[in-house]
Amino acid sequence: MRRKLAAGNWKMNGTAASLAELAVLGAQLDDEGPDVVVCPPAPLLYRAVHAAEGTRIDIGAQDCHMQSKGAFTGDISAEMIADTGARYVIAGHSERRDAHEERNSDIRAKVSMAWACDLTAIICIGEELSDHQQNNTLDIIAGQLAGSLPDAATAHNTVIAYEPIWAIGTGKVPTLEQITQVHDFIREKLINRLGQDVGDAIPLLYGGSVKPDNAETIFRAENVDGALVGGASLKAADFAPIIAALARS
Ligand code: PGA
Repeated sequence: MRRKLAAGNWKMNGTAASLAELAVLGAQLDDEGPDVVVCPPAPLLYRAVHAAEGTRIDIGAQDCHMQSKGAFTGDISAEMIADTGARYVIAGHSERRDAHEERNSDIRAKVSMAWACDLTAIICIGEELSDHQQNNTLDIIAGQLAGSLPDAATAHNTVIAYEPIWAIGTGKVPTLEQITQVHDFIREKLINRLGQDVGDAIPLLYGGSVKPDNAETIFRAENVDGALVGGASLKAADFAPIIAALARS
C-alpha cells in the first residue's frame, strides 16, 4: 500500500496569527489517517514546526536554493529549512518555474540539495493551457519528469505532484479520466526509470483547485495518492474535509 499524503501550500499568504489553523487542523486528524504536511511561507517555518508539535502535521518549505550556501541574497538553503525542523520542500512549483524562470535542471539540483539535507522533495510538474488544448500534456509531463527528478529517487525522499497550470487557482479541474490518464502515465514512467518497487511506491499527488466538494471524485483515480492544495489549505475548515476524503479513498 502506498502512503497517502495531503500537502498544503500556503504560497505567499499568512502571518504568525495564521498558525492557529495548525492546532485546529491537528486536533481533527486521526492517528490512522493520511500523512499531512503544511508549507507556510519561509519566515513562519520555525514557528510552524513548534505550532504543529504534538500533532501529526509535518511542515515543509515552498522552495530551496540549489547551492548549499553563499552569496545568494534573499535565498534559503535546504540546510536552513531542515534546521527549522521542517521535513519537506516543494520544488519546481509552476509559479516558480514561471516567475523565477526555474528550469528542469535547476529543479533537479534543488531536489538533490533537499535530499542531502534529509528533506522529502515534492516535485511539481504540469502543462500550460495551450499544451493541454493541443494534446501535448503527456510530452510535457515526460520532459519535466525526466529533467527534474534526479536518479536517486525513493519513496522516502520523493513525492510527485501533477498540477496542470490552467487548473491552479482557477476553479477548473481536469476530468477524472484526464487525471487518471496523466497519473497512470507518470506511474509508468517512474516504474520504467526506477524499477517496479520504487516506481510503484512514490506517492503521486494531484494539485489544482482541489476543494472539499471535488476531492472525493479526484481521489477515485487509482494513482492519485493525495493532493497538493493551495487556497483550500489556508483554513482548517477547508483542508480537514479534503484530508478526510483522502482517508476514505
Ligand atoms: P490551488 O493551488 O489549490 O489554489 O489551485 C494549488 C497549487 O498551486 O499547489
